[in-house]
Amino acid sequence: MSRRVSRRRFLQAASFVSAAAVAGLPAWFVEESRSYGQTARPTTSPNERPRVALIGCGGRGMALSKEAKPFADVVAVCDVDEKHAANGAYEHQGATQYDDFRKAIAHKGLDAVLCATPDHWHTLVNLHAMRQGKDVYSEKPLTLTIDEGKHVVQTSRQTGRILQTGSQQRSDDRFRLACELVRNGRVGRLKQVLVAIPAGPGPKERGPFKATAVPEELDWEMWQGQTPEHEYVPQRCHFTFRYWYDYSGGTVTDWGAHHNDIALWGMGQERSGPSTIEAKPLSEMVPGGYTAYSDYRIVYTWPNGVEHVCYSERYDSGTGASIAQPAPGETHHGVKFVGSDGWIFVTRGKIEASDPDLLKQELPASAERLYVSRNHMGNFIDCLRTRKPPIAEAEIGHRSVSVCHLGNIALRVGRKLTWDPKAEAFVGDDEAQRYVARTMRKPWSYDAV
Ligand SMILES: NC(=O)c1ccc[n+]([C@@H]2O[C@H](COP(=O)([O-])OP(=O)(O)OC[C@H]3O[C@@H](n4cnc5c(N)ncnc54)[C@H](O)[C@@H]3O)[C@@H](O)[C@H]2O)c1
Repeated sequence: MSRRVSRRRFLQAASFVSAAAVAGLPAWFVEESRSYGQTARPTTSPNERPRVALIGCGGRGMALSKEAKPFADVVAVCDVDEKHAANGAYEHQGATQYDDFRKAIAHKGLDAVLCATPDHWHTLVNLHAMRQGKDVYSEKPLTLTIDEGKHVVQTSRQTGRILQTGSQQRSDDRFRLACELVRNGRVGRLKQVLVAIPAGPGPKERGPFKATAVPEELDWEMWQGQTPEHEYVPQRCHFTFRYWYDYSGGTVTDWGAHHNDIALWGMGQERSGPSTIEAKPLSEMVPGGYTAYSDYRIVYTWPNGVEHVCYSERYDSGTGASIAQPAPGETHHGVKFVGSDGWIFVTRGKIEASDPDLLKQELPASAERLYVSRNHMGNFIDCLRTRKPPIAEAEIGHRSVSVCHLGNIALRVGRKLTWDPKAEAFVGDDEAQRYVARTMRKPWSYDAV
């Protein structure tokens, strides 16, 4: 899309400017962004609507598949919890209901897969889908381990399949603006990136938890898949799986996959990784309860000398959605780029700078500009047609979550680690290196799908 704004487009755009200016975006950027329009357009024409399968009909899967509805037909829904699968079938009338992702992916005439399972299933579902010739929109965090990410990137390249990672902040104007300004030196020489993440469960919410009978509607064995076998504990399952290292990485990967992704985009390091990682848990977890650290501080150094600090904050933990002002001493979750000449802070619904003029001044024609997507699902659908890489293609998703995985590994081994981003391997630390991959419980393996 051309960056030059025609007079007609300018006039069309002008009517939107005041509303967007209220939301904190500078007028020049709003005018310019409006001129790009939408990527994929909603359509009712059956020939133009890809046929997709939803794998994982929990909270996010239901929301995601509704986002797909204007562009695509959800013809298959799959969940190992029969009630969740039934919710999917109810939302997408006419869709066939499955309990095994391999059968759903074999649904006749399928073009693409939306993967919204818990994190520990993403890789095997995504590999199977791509190997079966399907394009994939996969929820973040893209993987459970760095090794899984290498397999996903390689398979996406080998099969030529589109893979969009569900890091939808990349398709939000505010985050793109912040990253474009930082990459063009608006804060001067970049010195530090502060990434504040909503903390995990508080001290009274961490367990210990008791095993109970498996609900009749749930295939617990299939839910666990490749992970170590455990008795059914409700807190291990729907939604709260994200606080157990067996299935996820706590808020380090849950929210970290979003905000660290933006940190990498702004730094221009999205296909690389840090050189060192040092991390400290800031509270204790309870035996028999959630395992992923709730409170933490992780410090990365990057090959270009930038310090990147990722820390948990309790101001808006839990929902992670509040955009009200934090009290003094508290921070808001989001990303702050600090340079020699000022700072820019960005989060959902808000962008701020040390001096408002840092945002107001238009970027010159020679400025480095970034991939424009104004609708994350729309961008995926568009790429199904154009076969161009989506904004959060496999390597982007892999590198962003790798930074989170590295933080968790440093938290778990408790010492400063040196990382070689090119080889994607630790330097001189066998224990840390063991965390790069995990043994999958039989019958699951990369080759089993
Ligand atoms: N992009 C975002 O903003 C965003 C927001 C929320 C969640 N997410 C991500 O979405 C994913 C799902 O999170 P959630 O909160 O919806 O969790 P959830 O527990 O509500 O839903 C997950 C669903 O997957 C099902 N499932 C488990 N194993 C399966 C398998 N082998 N085959 C089919 N279905 C299976 C579960 O039964 C459950 O219904 C996570 O990776 C999470 O990080 C992303």
